[in-house]
Amino acid sequence: MSVEFNHTIVLTRDREKSARFLAHVLGLEVGEPAGMFLPVTTANGVTLDFATVDIDIPAQHYAFLVSEDEFDALLTRLVEAGIPVQADPHGRHPRRINRNDGGRGVYFRDPAGHGLEALTRPYGTDPASPLNGVTEEVPGAV
Ligand SMILES: [Fe+2]
Repeated sequence: MSVEFNHTIVLTRDREKSARFLAHVLGLEVGEPAGMFLPVTTANGVTLDFATVDIDIPAQHYAFLVSEDEFDALLTRLVEAGIPVQADPHGRHPRRINRNDGGRGVYFRDPAGHGLEALTRPYGTDPASPLNGVTEEVPGAV
């Protein structure tokens, strides 16, 4: 099987603001505009094409697999920017990260209200602790 996810369109009220937010927190680059799209491409070649629209935008979920070092850097950027973080998608564990699958994970919102997630281990990596409920406080988090 050679099918790979290649790109998607991310709806936003302000493509510059949203693309720069994502690129900043993940340590990525914003690409050159292509028509109505402003791209941010991940290391595995998936492009998120940010598009400004003037409609009600239903919140979507986008998750990013990062290294432990990248997770540290991302968490620092989120705290410094005053972006609320939480260990779960429902806000039951604010100002905390999770330790699911033997790694670390965090949820936060982008400027358009999309639910973003960064995790260091893919879901199911550690069948013994898929959702182990263990969380850690993030110093300085709001
Ligand atoms: Fe997720």
